[in-house]
Amino acid sequence: MLPHERRAVVLSALVFLLLFFINISSNTLPVLKNVSKASAVTATLLIAVTLFLGPLSRFFPGYFKHDLIYRKFLGLSGFFFALLHALAAFVGTYKADIFLVFSVANPNFYPAVFGAIGLLVLFALAATSTAHAIKKLTFNNWKFLQRLGYLSLVFVVLHFVFVGNSYFLKSVAGQALLVFSFMVVVAKLLAIAAGLPKEHSKEEIKHLTKS
Ligand code: HEM
Repeated sequence: MLPHERRAVVLSALVFLLLFFINISSNTLPVLKNVSKASAVTATLLIAVTLFLGPLSRFFPGYFKHDLIYRKFLGLSGFFFALLHALAAFVGTYKADIFLVFSVANPNFYPAVFGAIGLLVLFALAATSTAHAIKKLTFNNWKFLQRLGYLSLVFVVLHFVFVGNSYFLKSVAGQALLVFSFMVVVAKLLAIAAGLPKEHSKEEIKHLTKS
């Protein structure tokens, strides 16, 4: 693992640990529930930051072009924590019963479907993040596929907005994540509408395609 990759992973783990300790010191929920909550917020934050770096590097190439090399491991860490959250929620909330998750008896049926779609898209992006996959797909097709990351963020937002009668939106964390996610999608749309050139740093392309 290269130093910038290690930095991205360590930073992601620190965000999770910080949120986990804030959670366990401020509520009396079981540990698994707090793992689920902390990993959910960490994952959403990491995915939003990863996606935000794209438009930021187009609006302010001088500042953000060189940070693009962090995207791969921030995104992969986001997927890891999304998976951890889904597993913790699956075991902790649904007693590992897949039929309960996707049955009409589940009051959170639609939020669960939105969450599952978001997770599946993230899985597809993680699975195609290797140098081998990029070469096979060709760089331009692969970049196009990466845009699905914004779709996954939209499904994740639908998931956390509607889960548990919108309880999460009553918290500062929920409102902040909603506003931040909205900013990310708007920034992307503005970058496309303005036709700004993609200033991919040479380092990012070199790191992504090295075998
Ligand atoms: C099959 C996939 C998923 C299932 C079954 C699921 C399930 C749940 C459940 C039961 C909750 C309520 C609180 C809890 O028990 O933790 C929740 C909250 C949440 N989920 Fe998911 N989820 C899934 C996917 C995702 C993904 C992919 C993300 C983000 C990347 C995400 C982000 C959130 C957020 C931000 C909350 C609010 C956390 C909080 O209360 O602090 N979920 N989810």
